Order: sequence, then C-alpha cells, then structure tokens
Amino acid sequence: MTRRKKRAADTATGMLVVLTIAVGLPVNVVSDYLPSVLTDHKAAWIAGLATVTVAAVWLTWLAPRLAERRARGKLFQVLPVPKGWIPRGELDEVVQALTGAGSRTVGVTTALWGAGGFGKTSLAVVACHDRRVRRYFSGGTVWATVGQDRTGAEIADVIRSICETLSAETPQMTDLQQLSHHLAELMAERGRMLLVVDDVWTSAQLEPFLAVVQRSRLLVTTRRPRTLPGGVVKIDVDAMTPAVAVRLLGRNLPIMRANLRRQLLEVTGGWPLLLALVNARLVEDVSQGALVNAAAEQAVARLRQAGPAALDITDSGRRETAVKATIDYSLEALPGERRERFLELGIFAEDVDVPLEVAVLLWRGTAGLTLEQSQTLCEELAGLSLLSLRWVDGKHQVVALHDVLRSFARSEHAIDPKRPVRGRLIHKNGERCRFFGASASAE
Ligand SMILES: Nc1ncnc2c1ncn2[C@@H]1O[C@H](COP(=O)(O)OP(=O)(O)OP(=O)(O)O)[C@@H](O)[C@H]1O
Ligand SMILES: [Mg+2]
Repeated sequence: MTRRKKRAADTATGMLVVLTIAVGLPVNVVSDYLPSVLTDHKAAWIAGLATVTVAAVWLTWLAPRLAERRARGKLFQVLPVPKGWIPRGELDEVVQALTGAGSRTVGVTTALWGAGGFGKTSLAVVACHDRRVRRYFSGGTVWATVGQDRTGAEIADVIRSICETLSAETPQMTDLQQLSHHLAELMAERGRMLLVVDDVWTSAQLEPFLAVVQRSRLLVTTRRPRTLPGGVVKIDVDAMTPAVAVRLLGRNLPIMRANLRRQLLEVTGGWPLLLALVNARLVEDVSQGALVNAAAEQAVARLRQAGPAALDITDSGRRETAVKATIDYSLEALPGERRERFLELGIFAEDVDVPLEVAVLLWRGTAGLTLEQSQTLCEELAGLSLLSLRWVDGKHQVVALHDVLRSFARSEHAIDPKRPVRGRLIHKNGERCRFFGASASAE
C-alpha cells in the first residue's frame, strides 16, 4: 500500500470512529435513553459534543500530516532553490525516478546529463527541496560537488567533509575505499538517504561514491553520460521547451512583442544560461527607463550581429560564439573597465565558492578597487546574472561563477602565472591555494 493510500485509510478509520461516537451520543441523549444527569441539559450536551466532534475530526485529519511533515528529511550542504527558478517538466521525471512515485522505473542511481549550462545542477537542487523527495528520503539528502579537476585526494576530502557533516566526527582513515564504505555506513544508519554527486567528469571520480547505492540512492549530474555505470536511469536535460523558455526570458519584465520574443528564443537556442543572461540585461535596461520592446529589439540586433543568427545548441562552436556575444552584451551595461575585472575572475578554480574578501584582494591588486567598489561591482555582476553572490553560514559572502562563464573568462583573459597579483594571492596565505585549484600550489 502506498503512503498516500495508507494515510487516507488511517484518516477514514479515525473519522468513522469519531462520527460513530458523535452520532451515537446525541441520539441517545435526545431519545432519553441516558441518565437524567445527561438528559437534563440536552442543549448544552449537544453543543459540547458537536464542538468535541469538530475538534476530533480536525485533529484526525491533521495528525498524520504533521507526523509526515516532521518526517521530512534534512538537507545537508544543499544550496537553496535558485532565485527566480522557472519550473520545468523534467522535475517530475527526476522526482519519479528517485521516489518511484510514477510509472517510470525507480533509479537506485539517477543521472541528469546534458551540455554545460542547461540546468542540471539547478534541477538537482530543486529536486532535493521537493516535498515528495524530502518525504521519501526521511534520512535526509546530502550534496557533494566534484568538478572537472578533482581527483583522488581531493575526492577523499569531499567524502571526509560529508562524513563530518553527517556524524560530527572526522574520520581517521585516509584510504579512499575505506572512506567510501564509511560514508555508505553512515548514510545507511540514518535511514533512507539520497546522495547527490554534482558535476562528475570521469568514472574514476564517480567510483568512490558508488558504495552508497547498497542502501541509499544516488543522483548524479554530468556532461558526459559515458562516465555512468550500467543500470542508471538517465534523464536528458536539454534546451528548455519554448513555453518554459518564454517564462525565463520574460521573468520580472512587462510583456514584450511576440516576434521579439521569438527572435530572442532563436538567438539563445532555449539555452537556460543565455536566457538568464539576456533576461537580466533586459531587466536592467527596463529599470533604467527603457521600454521592454525597445530593449528587446536592441538585444536581438546586438546578439545577431555578434553571435549566430539562430543558435543551434548541439553545435559547441556556435555555443561558444553565442556565449561571447551574450556576455559582451551583458557587460555593455556596465561602465568602465568592468569587463576586465569580470574576466579576471576566471583565475579561480571551477566549482569553488570564492569568499568575497578574496575577490576584493584580487581587484585591489589589479585595479586598486576599494572594498566598497569591489562589493558594488560584485552586486552589479550578480544583477546581470554573470555571477552569483550568496551568504554562507549567515556570516560570509561568497562569489560563484558558472563553469561556462568561467571557461569563457579564462579563455579571454590571458593568465600569466608570474603575474604579481596572482602570486601575491597564492603565497600570502597557503589556504588561498584552494581557490585556484591544485595547479596553483605547484607554482
Ligand atoms: N529552470 C530554470 N529557471 C531559471 N533559470 C535557470 C533554470 N535552469 C537553469 N537556469 C539558469 O541557467 C544557469 C545554468 O544552470 P546550471 O548551473 O543548473 O547548469 P548545468 O547544466 O549544471 O551546467 P554545468 O554542466 O556547467 O554544471 C543557472 O545559473 C540559471 O541562471
Ligand atoms: Mg552544474
């Protein structure tokens, strides 16, 4: 019997009992069958019983729901739902594959695959927060980010940090295999759990996480489906459907002319990353007083002139051209040398949350920006969706650059390992090496 059916059966039984009492007692009172102490104050008794009945029916309905709400699994290291996320049909597919709530096969391991920036990570985050998933994984959900450059020892660090989060103890073992079994045991002890492994690039990176599938479930996101083992339920995260893309394009904007909307969908190819950038620039233009149609016309002209006339998202060369055109169009909204400052962020390692203070240090070195100027610049870039700025532990602000945008920044900004700023950032404090990836520490 499914949970929903069981809950309905419990509620129906509870209500039947309450109704039997509720109907039985007044009937007996009215028919003078009961002793005078009850029958002398019929009206009061009937009113009292009616109140008790309503309260009992309400409690019977409420109790299983409250119990279920309490049973919702905790989220460990899972990002908050992205601001302005537009629901897409793939979410139900993911939830069904994870919980078996639909007709599709339940995946012990489920994978979201698709090219960079198509929304795999965002979809996985939203799935973790989904009510149905949280109810199903009552032991909780834990998140691990891998990324292209992480190998052996760094993967071991990721697993160690998850074990610490789950058990509040640092595991003593150093062997990767032992660590992965330790993680599997910790997860199994907590009950039904979900582990999300985000941004996997190789089978070797995924291997240490596979031990958990004995007792728990795994959700993987990857650009490379070949890294996945057999028996995985694969969900293709591709271009957005026109209906969803239109909602993302028009987020927080007045309605624009249909032909402009169509042309913008063509130049962005339904690619969420570009749609989000174009939307953010249009919102900025409108907030500066532009009419939405005038701003959209300018966007179409600008993107057609510098990028492909219509983006074929299966063609990675065209994708690169479209990214460049869109970033340039986004950055045009900012005065001065902001483009350079943005490109400098490409020196940081991928999938790393860079503390705002480290970005401040970087820009102080490259352009003499003050703390306030750097903060303002970060906010402006975040406003254009070129980076995300969020609080960690309610105390520290971190800057995160999407992989696709970071790769672009890296390719456009020639990185000289001997540049004094980079050197100073790296050597001033050994801890900062991790913001640049493994290669930086070797310099
Ligand atoms: N459903 C959505 N609603 C609104 N914006 C979205 C949605 N999906 C994706 N985006 C936008 O697209 C960007 C890229 O999405 P995401 O980071 O999830 O891609 P990805 O497929 O995980 O990329 P990668 O392979 O590089 O890790 C997000 O930062 C967000 O701005
Ligand atoms: Mg991702």
